[in-house]
Amino acid sequence: MSKFLINGGTKLSGEYSVDCAKNAYLPIIASTILCKEEIILKDCPFFADIDNMILILRNLGMTAERKGTELYINGKNAYQSYIPTELAKVIRSSIFALGALLGRFEKAKVAYPGGCDIGLRPIDLHLKGLRDLGVKIIESHGYIYCDASKMHGGQVYLDYPSVGATENLIMAAVLCKGITTIINPAKEPEIVDLQNFLNKMGAKIDGAGTDIITITGVEELHGTEYRPIPDRIIAGTMLIAAAITGGSITVKNCIPQHISSLYTKLQKSGCEIDVKSDCIFLQSKDRLDSISFLDTMPYPGFPTDLQAQMLTLQTVCKGYCIIQENMFESRFKFVPELIKMGANVRVHQRTAYVSGVPSLLGADVFATDLRGGVALVLAGLCAKGYTTVHDIYHIDRGYSHIEDALTSLGASIKRVE
Ligand code: UD1
Repeated sequence: MSKFLINGGTKLSGEYSVDCAKNAYLPIIASTILCKEEIILKDCPFFADIDNMILILRNLGMTAERKGTELYINGKNAYQSYIPTELAKVIRSSIFALGALLGRFEKAKVAYPGGCDIGLRPIDLHLKGLRDLGVKIIESHGYIYCDASKMHGGQVYLDYPSVGATENLIMAAVLCKGITTIINPAKEPEIVDLQNFLNKMGAKIDGAGTDIITITGVEELHGTEYRPIPDRIIAGTMLIAAAITGGSITVKNCIPQHISSLYTKLQKSGCEIDVKSDCIFLQSKDRLDSISFLDTMPYPGFPTDLQAQMLTLQTVCKGYCIIQENMFESRFKFVPELIKMGANVRVHQRTAYVSGVPSLLGADVFATDLRGGVALVLAGLCAKGYTTVHDIYHIDRGYSHIEDALTSLGASIKRVE
């Protein structure tokens, strides 16, 4: 099992250019199932989750090949609408393929994605929305069987603005006769990016990023080239990495507006922040002030995917902070590992109470999930002495060789296979 060895205490310094977003790439790859022509996706990052999504396409009979930095996809020969358990279990995002499969084949058999390392992650909203569009769904023996032969445009109200449900419904409706409206959809930038990509292929979608999305069904989609948006969570992780080490960083190729909920808080903690159109400069100081309170919210609120990194920063700030996790019930699983490093954190249900200590101490810790795992790397960067982060396959799901990026900023970190 690979692990990271980190010798903490170096202030990071330098520039970092952000990869394309995992959470934009995954639904965009899934949506290519709707098209029978060639699609070229630019700057495809080397994240394990993306490679697993590529396997899902190939299993349907599509071609999907990396050539240099580009991903070439062709759905001409797709012949089946089935995702088996062994593929669905390695990547929860396989559920995003359901809407696209129904649009293309009018039927699908998809293994239930089940729970995961950050919580139960139900899909009731996805299925309710599809039923509202006339899809017949039977759940049996771990599989979801869908018949969309009578699917029609219609109105779907989402009780909660779920990112995945919104994306699935958009994909299901693109080739569906009539007009579909999604009320109370998720407004995350990745939804807007999916709309822009599908519209570039000939879809008619309007309103992503607002309270109502309208999809007017079209006959077919055509091939295109597209570069998905930069990853706001990686951009935020790198800002926090510089902040926690007392260093400085220029995060380039990002969309600052997408992480304004983060950088305004870092500013409040005492970081100097300078925002330009596509980059953010951060200068930290030796000990930052605690932000007192943080709760995770749907976009444009503070993202749950940056909660673990921000909690870790609070462990070494001056003062006390209460962190409320509103999205996923198991997102504090990494906290016992931080406590091994000397952090003073108490968790009760979905709330963490963090009392800042002057410094963390290196220790052997285990990544429990993607964002919790990267948070332990941040802890290791600022801790006194050596930290070993085990089970880093979690981190590789959404960061491409993060050790290289951190090394280029002056950190002492190496991967040991
Ligand atoms: C996506 C992101 C994930 C991010 C999350 C919230 C991808 C690949 N993943 O996950 O990184 O943390 O958005 O920003 O884009 N819920 C239900 N029923 C459903 C669907 C969701 O109850 O049918 C609940 C979930 O349990 C959770 C909340 O809604 O409490 C948000 O989930 P959702 O927005 O759907 O997240 P994902 O799309 O799974």
